[in-house]
Amino acid sequence: MKATIVTLPGDGIGPDVTAEAIRILSTVADLFGHQFSFESALIGGAAIDTTGTALPSATLDACRASDAVLLGAVGGPQWDAPDAVVRPEQGLLALRKGLCVFANLRPVRVADCLADRSTLRPEVVRGVDLVVVRELTGGMYFGDKSRGPGEGGQEAIDVCRYSTAEIERVARRAGQLARSRRGRLASVDKANVLETSRLWRETVTRVMAEEFPDLIVEHVLVDACAMHLIRNPGGFDVILTENLFGDILTDEAAMLAGSIGLLPSASLGAPGSPGLFEPIHGSAPTLAGRDLANPYGAILSAAMLLRHGLALDAEADAVERAVEQAWVTGFIPADLTDSSTAPYGTRAIGSAVAALLSEAATPATTAR
Ligand code: IPM
Ligand code: MG
Repeated sequence: MKATIVTLPGDGIGPDVTAEAIRILSTVADLFGHQFSFESALIGGAAIDTTGTALPSATLDACRASDAVLLGAVGGPQWDAPDAVVRPEQGLLALRKGLCVFANLRPVRVADCLADRSTLRPEVVRGVDLVVVRELTGGMYFGDKSRGPGEGGQEAIDVCRYSTAEIERVARRAGQLARSRRGRLASVDKANVLETSRLWRETVTRVMAEEFPDLIVEHVLVDACAMHLIRNPGGFDVILTENLFGDILTDEAAMLAGSIGLLPSASLGAPGSPGLFEPIHGSAPTLAGRDLANPYGAILSAAMLLRHGLALDAEADAVERAVEQAWVTGFIPADLTDSSTAPYGTRAIGSAVAALLSEAATPATTAR
């Protein structure tokens, strides 16, 4: 297969981890006979410094014309001034909106060999295999914002808005995913307080009853969900939720796996349109360029790119198997090691995964 992949390394450790994800995709191309061409473009702080905007139109055009987009991370203290007019994060939000990737899949799978590295007890996290489907292009992230004089000082407003159609499309995506997994869906909202959540619950209830009667559906309030996630995470299969709740719950869920550095994501829109694939971690500016970043989230995002972006399931499986083997073999990055073991660096982990991938794909020559 021929595919054009736009890479957006971004800021901080973004370039470090993206390089390893590209290494893995190139290895896959060699082993499976594909032709991937990589086109790098600017986003975030790197784009602000060069062009004055966080998402140059050339970047959005290249992404729209591509088969898939691989992103590192955006942000950093040098662009964080409270009065800054452009912020790196705006580039990411504009890209999500511009590609119309409304469904953000964030899987959390706890590998047996890493179960004792979580801050939670191993018996709580062992066997966890859940996916959060986060609505990504609506809600408070994209509502009108304003600031002005108000009673007792200033007043700031962030509008949270959802339409039936926006809820329906992401609910369908979550329903299809739950059907391909263990058939359970927990829809998370705050319907006891918020009007948007009442529309959310009503719409999800209807879509599930009409189109997914085979699924076991429950509605969970977001505060209770935050609690159940660390009380009994094994009870969840697919969690469907709105943008802001999904942002918060996925950072929490990351700790089940031991570190946010391990978690990948896929942001998908209409079938046939390019998806956006990125680790869920931030730009960790203090680790940038020091060979310290955990590249697994980016590498697993590359696996999601193969599966969801290019429909290359066998290739995605191969990458995930190589990653798991790297964990079992002991290729553990700094964010998951205690002081008694020396961690592996970003590049060493990338080359170990590439080597394991090649070994598995090349049949061993039998000794005569
Ligand atoms: C994420 C991040 C982003 C978000 C930031 C960088 C804007 O936290 O992808 O979870 O809030 O969506
Ligand atoms: Mg987040």
